[in-house]
Amino acid sequence: MVVKLHDLYFKPFINADEIDVVVQRMVNDIAADIKDEIPVFVGIMNGSFMFVSDFVKKYPKPCEVTFIKLASYEGVKSTEDIQRLIGLTQDLTARTVVILEDIIDSGNTLEEVHRIFKNENVKQLLIATLFHKPEAYDKDFKLHYVGKEIPNKFIVGYGLDYDGLGRDLPDVYQLKTTQHMTNIVLFGPPGAGKGTQANFLKEKYDLVHISTGDVFRYNIKNETALGMLAKSYMDKGELVPDQVTIDMLNKEVEKNTDAKGFIFDGFPRTNAQAKALDELMDSKDSQINAMVALEVDDEILVERLLKRGETSGRADDADENIIRNRIKEYYSKTAILKDYYSDQNKYFGVDGVGSIEEITERLSAVIDKL
Ligand code: IMP
Ligand code: MG
Repeated sequence: MVVKLHDLYFKPFINADEIDVVVQRMVNDIAADIKDEIPVFVGIMNGSFMFVSDFVKKYPKPCEVTFIKLASYEGVKSTEDIQRLIGLTQDLTARTVVILEDIIDSGNTLEEVHRIFKNENVKQLLIATLFHKPEAYDKDFKLHYVGKEIPNKFIVGYGLDYDGLGRDLPDVYQLKTTQHMTNIVLFGPPGAGKGTQANFLKEKYDLVHISTGDVFRYNIKNETALGMLAKSYMDKGELVPDQVTIDMLNKEVEKNTDAKGFIFDGFPRTNAQAKALDELMDSKDSQINAMVALEVDDEILVERLLKRGETSGRADDADENIIRNRIKEYYSKTAILKDYYSDQNKYFGVDGVGSIEEITERLSAVIDKL
């Protein structure tokens, strides 16, 4: 489950069980190295409180525990950070001190710790950190025990916070590179009013409407590499492989990196395509939130389309048999997808009979809850 802290979204990264294993391993390593002395474990507040607590509970031999806090103050010069130390009252002369850090990132805090302990005449100063971001670390201090190396991305949970929130979470979460999006697969039989509603929804929710048909026409007309590739299959009378379509959609998604979400229209049509779309969204740190299908009774659809045929001149809107076939085909094709999304509790059928405003309201009620 994604968590929201203040304005940002975080995704599950390291669960409590995995953390437990890492902490236990650190305990074993440290206990094995410290033979017949009573070490002083020094947690760096605030972030390390949970780690230190779990660590000392697992520690098999007598030990002392204390905490220090480095309070950052904006210095006299605006650029200079002055660290103030709180809590180091104990005499540590000739003791083995093990610093327990939740995370070592740039190493600035560690540098400060070294500066402080330089004058404490300890027997040895060992550094243990639960998490370490090697890509961000630009100091030379030796890290004696590292629980887990992680990529240079912001994390929260298990003591770590984002602006005060998230310390209480038992699991660790990682900042999502793509923030929250509302991605909808919009379905509806011919004549259900999909186009009309898509237009309203994209305005209301600031979504980008990706009509697969339009994307195809655009790529072919502009002779893009993918368009030419798609055309080569179509010219041979073959189906365009899903990957080509997905690559086109990917391009559309990437053109709109600031989008609040997407309305996919005309895709997916098969299980394999739905899976491919899930993978695409996953690669963007996002997901399909819902398949929203407009539901309209067959007889009403036939009536609407025949009426549209009177003015639109579209041949396929003029013949009742053709219309009924298109509707039948729609249901036989979308049934699989309805199951696919229902299985993930993502299928939402919306009554598509009523005024345009009424239907927009019904759709909004679904989207507002996503
Ligand atoms: P430093 O850059 O190694 O000095 O780390 C400074 C402090 O920044 C750490 O003690 C944490 O309190 C905080 N910090 C660094 N990276 C993260 C993170 O990914 N999430 C939450 N806090 C972090
Ligand atoms: Mg810290």
